[in-house]
Amino acid sequence: MPPIRRYPTGGQYRDSLYNTDLCFRDSVLKGSIVTKDRLEMPKLISGNFASVFTVRSPNNQQWAVKCFTRFVDNQEERYQRISEALRPVKKPWRVGFDYLPEGVMCEGRWYPILKMEWVDAVELIPFIEKHLWDPSRIADLATKFARMIEDLAALGIAHGDLQHGNLLVTSSGELKLIDYDGMYVPSLARMGACEVGHANYQSPARTISSWGPYLDNFSAWVIYASLVALTIDPSLWTLLRDQRCCSRKTTSEISELRVPFRSWLRVMCQTCKRSVQESKRCGCPMYEPSPCLIHARYQLRANSRL
Ligand SMILES: Nc1ncnc2c1ncn2[C@@H]1O[C@H](COP(=O)(O)OP(=O)(O)O)[C@@H](O)[C@H]1O
Ligand SMILES: [Mg+2]
Repeated sequence: MPPIRRYPTGGQYRDSLYNTDLCFRDSVLKGSIVTKDRLEMPKLISGNFASVFTVRSPNNQQWAVKCFTRFVDNQEERYQRISEALRPVKKPWRVGFDYLPEGVMCEGRWYPILKMEWVDAVELIPFIEKHLWDPSRIADLATKFARMIEDLAALGIAHGDLQHGNLLVTSSGELKLIDYDGMYVPSLARMGACEVGHANYQSPARTISSWGPYLDNFSAWVIYASLVALTIDPSLWTLLRDQRCCSRKTTSEISELRVPFRSWLRVMCQTCKRSVQESKRCGCPMYEPSPCLIHARYQLRANSRL
């Protein structure tokens, strides 16, 4: 049977989730209680390509149920390979999941879902806003982030879409990485990418053909350097509150920014630009990112309180 290419909307999934006895086939999810919003409707968290619901199974466990709103070629195989690559990884940032090809019945058909451990945590931005004036909390997160990047690098894995919506922080300060849809793992090397990541965090040189273990280097550097910068000058946050994009600024936009951030941003842009140029010079079709985060970390550490 040809794959279904049109996927339901978040609203259509929400209607199905009123009856978890009918919409789920999985024995744990069947009969689970869906978290409701103020209007008593199944509460939906919208991502770019999915709607996420929280359910409590009869054995009192909480799950995130990710319902996809767009078709992805070879999604089942991708998730199978990603699952094989991550299963042996015992690191605090990893979140367990199961890909269920016939996960949810919606509009009379079965659609895949991702059944994930529910992480009781906040996304990166609310975390930063809450702890902005507590540099040690931000520095601690920066260190955990860098460790996670080192873990991924050691495994030859890249997340593919490092950004605020995919980084969660628990109340004990643990960093969790979610949304493995576009993950590069060595066994998927021949498959190619299925997304390009959040533009604000990506190198301008990244395209849908960029695919390899290097994929996160640029965004990792942007996030790590931003966290470090905030430990040094928290006022940068207010200054740049609505300008989360670091990588796609024009020269005139940069010149409007205040001096401390301007110099920091210039260094970043120059470094990134240089690395793009260098990768072109080497005949490499993919951008070879900025200094690898592992090296940047040690450089930055010398200048900061990390
Ligand atoms: N396992 C989880 N635990 C807690 N929240 C989650 C979990 N999975 C997703 N979310 C929430 O749902 C949002 C969207 O999920 P995500 O997997 O990032 O979807 P998309 O691929 O559409 O970006 C996330 O930004 C996060 O706030
Ligand atoms: Mg996401």
